[in-house]
Amino acid sequence: QPVPVIAIDGPSASGKGTVAARVAEALGFHYLDSGSLYRLVALAALKAGLAESDPRVVDIARHLPAAFEAGVVRLSGEDVTDAIRSEACSVMASKVAARSEVRDALLDRQRAYRRPPGLVAEGRDMGSVVFPDAGTKVFLTASVEARAERRYKQLMEKGLPANIDSLSQDLRERDERDASRPVAPLKKLPDATELETSEMTVDQAVSFVLDLVGAKG
Ligand code: C5P
Repeated sequence: QPVPVIAIDGPSASGKGTVAARVAEALGFHYLDSGSLYRLVALAALKAGLAESDPRVVDIARHLPAAFEAGVVRLSGEDVTDAIRSEACSVMASKVAARSEVRDALLDRQRAYRRPPGLVAEGRDMGSVVFPDAGTKVFLTASVEARAERRYKQLMEKGLPANIDSLSQDLRERDERDASRPVAPLKKLPDATELETSEMTVDQAVSFVLDLVGAKG
């Protein structure tokens, strides 16, 4: 019996991270925030002053000195939990993520999260590429307006600079880049259940996913 996987894919700032983490907690499953890996590659590239097309970005992805513990994300030991969420890093992440060599370099690392009793994995290609045999696949979306609003609140809470119009604009561009790229584009799979959360609370979205998992036994 393979270790069960719940794959939650969706666009930026759709709330899939919060929902996935809560579902993992409720089930006692492991949790993979695959976007944070792309964000870490992006941050390391930015720190090294590399363009997204630089071959050295692939080496960074292969040997990413990342560590996750108790809600803290580290890059070479440095706490970068907030740094990887900046807009500059978000934009760079979606650029490095468009490179197939970068994606390949992160594949084994992501699959290693599949350990008993189970995994909740969130990103863009969890159901399509990384865990195509996932027993539950959810495509979690929300309108650009709702997502820009959520991101704005997150940034404000962290005391980071934020502007709602430029956030909406960045989201649109990032959606476009993530959905139109040739490798692992973001799309709703035929075997995924769509969950539109613009008008939903986090609790409602979490219940929906847990019901879906329960229904599949
Ligand atoms: O989900 P999050 O917004 O943190 O992801 C940051 C970027 O990483 C996305 O814009 C996307 O381009 C990329 N990504 C990806 N595949 C994943 C997760 C994230 O391409 N599975």
